[in-house]
Amino acid sequence: MEPVIEVSGLKHVYTDAENTQVTALDNISLQIMPGEFVAVIGANGSGKSTLARHLNALLLPTEGHVKIKGMDTLEEENLWSIRQNVGMVFQNPDNQIVAAIVEEDVAFGPENIGVPAEEIRKRVDDALAAVDMTAYRNHAPHLLSGGQKQRVAIAGTLALGSDCIVLDEPTAMLDPKGRREILGTMLCLNKEKSITVVYITHFMTEAMQADRVIVMSEGKICFQGTPKEVFSRVTELEKLGLEAPLAAKVAFELRKSGARLPEGIISNEELAEALAGAFRE
Ligand SMILES: Nc1ncnc2c1ncn2[C@@H]1O[C@H](COP(=O)(O)OP(=O)(O)OP(=O)(O)O)[C@@H](O)[C@H]1O
Ligand SMILES: [Mg+2]
Repeated sequence: MEPVIEVSGLKHVYTDAENTQVTALDNISLQIMPGEFVAVIGANGSGKSTLARHLNALLLPTEGHVKIKGMDTLEEENLWSIRQNVGMVFQNPDNQIVAAIVEEDVAFGPENIGVPAEEIRKRVDDALAAVDMTAYRNHAPHLLSGGQKQRVAIAGTLALGSDCIVLDEPTAMLDPKGRREILGTMLCLNKEKSITVVYITHFMTEAMQADRVIVMSEGKICFQGTPKEVFSRVTELEKLGLEAPLAAKVAFELRKSGARLPEGIISNEELAEALAGAFRE
């Protein structure tokens, strides 16, 4: 199977307002396979958003290569195809709405690339259904909740034909209900429609739901693995300015105090089960 995303030796250097060079990404290599759900975590300024922007050619490498389904972002003729293949969802739901009616907003992308009207109608229907927003198709987007607006943004990428969606802290501005809606929507699209997901978040509880977690620090990939592998590394995460999930921290402290607990406890349920075991007859 060919990777959807293949990043090799990627370096990104920004030149800031004072003309100083900032190396935001330094020799990043990674592959993401079709149908994977990958979370990216890392402290502020570690390069997450810069990496996200490379995945649909909003930025181009200073060094190295980014390939989407084999298409190099450095080759200009690939640009439209790359942008259709990889959808982007950003943090601020209000910045992503372009039309005054939900269904027009979702239709905007395919209209722009000249998809025939009949086909657009079908794509909009399917996309709204996939994010559970059909009931709101004739609503004004600015009256929706943050979570609903983000779901409209996700529908927009689906209507464009993306089967890979990169989300850069999509829940940062949402309340707990909105956060659950977005993560739930993405997990469902991943499981049921095999959408490949790259999900940047600073909520560890969200990253825990991914197939793989990539930890970034100072423009590099520090370590990666399953949520269990990554979130068991409590001390290393703390050194990077990240907090392990509460259950992992409690298990870590209990072990330090001499409790014999199994390795790899990261969820509340796993911790509860391990503790209950200690009290059982
Ligand atoms: N347009 C820019 N010009 C100059 N430097 C930039 C620019 N954008 C980002 N940087 C710098 O590049 C580095 C990586 O930034 P980036 O936004 O990718 O990090 P991030 O992990 O997304 O951070 P956050 O968690 O705050 O969103 C930081 O040092 C940042 O200051
Ligand atoms: Mg960012």
